[in-house]
Amino acid sequence: MSATLEVAGFGDTSITGIDGTRGVLTYRGFRIEDVVQHLGYEATTGLLLWGTRPGEPGARDVGPELRARRALPVALDRVVEALPSNAAPIDGFRTAVSAMEDVARIYPPTATESLKLVARCPTLVARLHQRATGSPPRAPDPRLGHVANYLWMVKGTAAAPERVRALERYFVLLADHGISASTLALRVVLSTRSDLASAVSAALGALKGPLHGGAPAEVLEMLDAVGSIDQVEAWIDRALDQRGRLFGFGHPTYRVEDPRATLLRDFAKEVAAPARYALARRFEEVALERLARRRPDQPLFTNVDFYGAVLLEGVGLPRGLFTPTFALARTAGWSAHALEQVAQNRMVRPPERYIGPAPRVWDEET
Ligand code: ACO
Repeated sequence: MSATLEVAGFGDTSITGIDGTRGVLTYRGFRIEDVVQHLGYEATTGLLLWGTRPGEPGARDVGPELRARRALPVALDRVVEALPSNAAPIDGFRTAVSAMEDVARIYPPTATESLKLVARCPTLVARLHQRATGSPPRAPDPRLGHVANYLWMVKGTAAAPERVRALERYFVLLADHGISASTLALRVVLSTRSDLASAVSAALGALKGPLHGGAPAEVLEMLDAVGSIDQVEAWIDRALDQRGRLFGFGHPTYRVEDPRATLLRDFAKEVAAPARYALARRFEEVALERLARRRPDQPLFTNVDFYGAVLLEGVGLPRGLFTPTFALARTAGWSAHALEQVAQNRMVRPPERYIGPAPRVWDEET
């Protein structure tokens, strides 16, 4: 049974709707299936931030604004240079965000600060990757869209269109998910009237954990450990007997399949190596059957990270970039939540229940 954090006056949001019992996810009222079919990541960012779709009255064209803000300020580049080259990219990402002094100056954060953050973070992650792999820095290409440019900066060659499309869909699907653990961390920090860079650093810290944004890399580790289709059943039984968790399954919100998982199952197939995809499908089949048998009262379903991991591998991203890539997608949602938090701000302080010793007498004699 999962516990729920209840804080008076906190938790109202008009950005993303989640109906975990029917498996419905909406961005600003539009179902995720429609959003991913019709919008790319830049337009999704506009939808999350302002609730408007391209071409609607008052809609802001986010694409050119993002493209204009991709470059890293020189001071930030120096921070990256000062980091150990073997630092995990997610740690470098979190550290460098806290050094973005032009998004850390003021409260409340502005839409311009939010767009700077969304625009700049892919350049930062690519830069950290280039540094770790000893490859030369690549300047962002303004002719490419947000996601295509990220893939290009990481890989150094133009990606096949199906890979760009798959990653774009991943970014759209992961762009927001209500008040998840990382978004809660962001909102708690902003609720004290702190700044956007501090809030996003906190969110990155929360996202890094294997039960949240760290799960995709763990999914692949698991599939690698299984090795081949004929080992799936024995491996899963052993893992569950040892009370292990199967990464990519379960979610605190959904009591049916997460609609993003349903979509990603198909999207991943378009880019994954056939043998990898076949192994993943078999693993999923056995995992769902075994989990249902062991926990008939608490159904667990495939979550966004299972096929998300297979897709990220299929587009050619290295495993160390899985969590940072999840975080890059989520910068749009974090930005929208930052603006929403400051618009309705009350300091977040959850109720607590003291369960320590009853009041005791301070006895000087003992
Ligand atoms: N595999 C095996 N057992 C599981 C799994 C799983 N994936 N998920 C939950 N359980 C079991 C737990 O061991 C626990 O068992 P117990 O009561 O015998 O101790 C029980 O179900 C309840 O677990 P909770 O963690 O309390 O359930 P909750 O619904 O809050 O957990 C969570 C959600 C943390 C995502 C969990 O399902 C999990 O650890 N999944 C694997 C990690 C993962 O894929 N994370 C990504 C989540 S999606 C995202 O962040 C984008």
